[in-house]
Amino acid sequence: MKRLIYSSIASDDVDFDTVGEILTHAVKRNKEKSITGMMIYDGHSFLQCIEGDDLVINKLWEKLNTDQRHHFLHINGEEHDEKRLFSNWNMGYMNNSHEIQEMIRKVTGRESASFETLSYPHAKVLLLQLSFLL
Ligand SMILES: Cc1cc2nc3c(=O)[nH]c(=O)nc-3n(C[C@H](O)[C@H](O)[C@H](O)COP(=O)(O)O)c2cc1C
Repeated sequence: MKRLIYSSIASDDVDFDTVGEILTHAVKRNKEKSITGMMIYDGHSFLQCIEGDDLVINKLWEKLNTDQRHHFLHINGEEHDEKRLFSNWNMGYMNNSHEIQEMIRKVTGRESASFETLSYPHAKVLLLQLSFLL
């Protein structure tokens, strides 16, 4: 099983409604492909973890890279693992900026941090802790 965490910046015309549409489609597709994960959106940037078979994740990564709804994709980290972290979620989602910022403070000890500056361990713990609030 491959796990990949990346961050990206939402395109100017993307708002909370658009992200809702992205998510609905993603959950449906991910279910079909046994992809699990967690995504957060703070109104400006995305941080997303995707987990699944190597080939399936590589294919999704290619698609994500050509998706005009976001840009500046940056891989925070990736690894292989026996177990999924987000087995309950075909794509968990949180967009509460306050909760996100609070958890960033707890996890990193920093006052604030943009998603792309998070180390892989910090990004992983952040998404996992936020998924517990869902
Ligand atoms: C921030 C963001 C996250 C996305 N997450 C997923 C995802 O988890 N799964 C997925 O299939 N598509 C996701 N997409 C959409 C893909 O980029 C692409 O549009 C989709 O895979 C194409 O779907 P199709 O298989 O119906 O052609 C995401 C797009 C954005 C902008």
